[in-house]
Amino acid sequence: MSAVSNFHLEEFNEKPEIVVKAPGRVNLIGDHTDYNEGFVLPMAIDRYIWIALSRRKDSHIVAYSVDHNDVKKFGLQNLRYRKEDKWANYIKGIVSVLEKKGYTIGGANLTVTGNVPEGAGLSSSAALEVGVAYAFDGLFELGIDKIEIAKISQEAENDFVGVKCGIMDQLISVLGKSDHAVFIDTRTLDFEYIPLNLKSERIVITNSNVPRGLVDSEYNKRRSECGRCVEVLKERKNGSALRDYSFEDLREIMGLLPESVRKRCMHVVDENRRVIDAKEALKKGDFVTFGRLMNRSHESLRDLYEVSCPELDWLVKRAWETEGVYGSRMTGGGFGGCTVTLLRDDAIDSYKQAIGQYEKIFGFRPDIYIATPSQGVEVEVF
Ligand code: GLA
Repeated sequence: MSAVSNFHLEEFNEKPEIVVKAPGRVNLIGDHTDYNEGFVLPMAIDRYIWIALSRRKDSHIVAYSVDHNDVKKFGLQNLRYRKEDKWANYIKGIVSVLEKKGYTIGGANLTVTGNVPEGAGLSSSAALEVGVAYAFDGLFELGIDKIEIAKISQEAENDFVGVKCGIMDQLISVLGKSDHAVFIDTRTLDFEYIPLNLKSERIVITNSNVPRGLVDSEYNKRRSECGRCVEVLKERKNGSALRDYSFEDLREIMGLLPESVRKRCMHVVDENRRVIDAKEALKKGDFVTFGRLMNRSHESLRDLYEVSCPELDWLVKRAWETEGVYGSRMTGGGFGGCTVTLLRDDAIDSYKQAIGQYEKIFGFRPDIYIATPSQGVEVEVF
């Protein structure tokens, strides 16, 4: 039996009827493009949230978080976000969206545990949402397809939890595939699996461990700056998101926008282009070009989108200076979180050495994970 099944058995005195595991993610390139209906190139990582579920006779959900050592009980109807419910809000959010969409579910006992670090920008909340939605879908035979699972999960995050994220994190948690990155068009939700056959290359995630205070407010600010730019662009050329515009279109309206808004839009337009180029480079196994594009992406997130921070910039710079590193960039929303670095495996030790002074300078340690491109959400056979 898997660990989560054992915890479920201990807590509820019954075996789970279904166990699901949903991965976290790292985005290789294409940040702050998803809510502009652009392109992203993430991969699912070999860190997961596990959900065990069994039916109850009443209409309550009893949710047990092993990692928070906490149990919450709530009814199926009239669910509300409550700050003090913390982790359980994601579960309530999924239940609430399922009900709103007319799916019939019953009461359940639920156990959750995982090894995606929380608050690190590796999408532990998306993995939790996707895992819970998929487990309910399986147990109550709701027949929901995987893209819809991602949409339901995003809706729970946007409308219930109140974080206005795009759809990348939830989508990659359902779409992930071993040894592949996934190129996603976040407007059409079309996607393409891009082989990521790592032989002597590795993908290293470095968690800056920066406390992430500013994330939500700055994220929403960036979103509205992009929206403002589109309003101006629309007056000259048809379109509904930054995705529809080129650098030339932007040039024409430069004088009409404050500098900060101009910079945001330039990032998004360039980043979309970079994702397409990076996808092509990866298809050819051209890690050198891919790495350069990662570096350009970091510079743009730092200088134009202004979502990096000294710790991330420092980590990335040390990586760039290390022999055997193809590319390195901050990944995800920013203001802390992680960097992602593509390097030769014989460069890992020198990279570790290069960032050895981090704790002395910033006062806390970074964590390093070597990530393998992994499978998306699935039912675990136990
Ligand atoms: C967060 C959001 C995503 C995406 C990234 C930035 O991870 O949840 O939807 O916008 O930031 O690329």
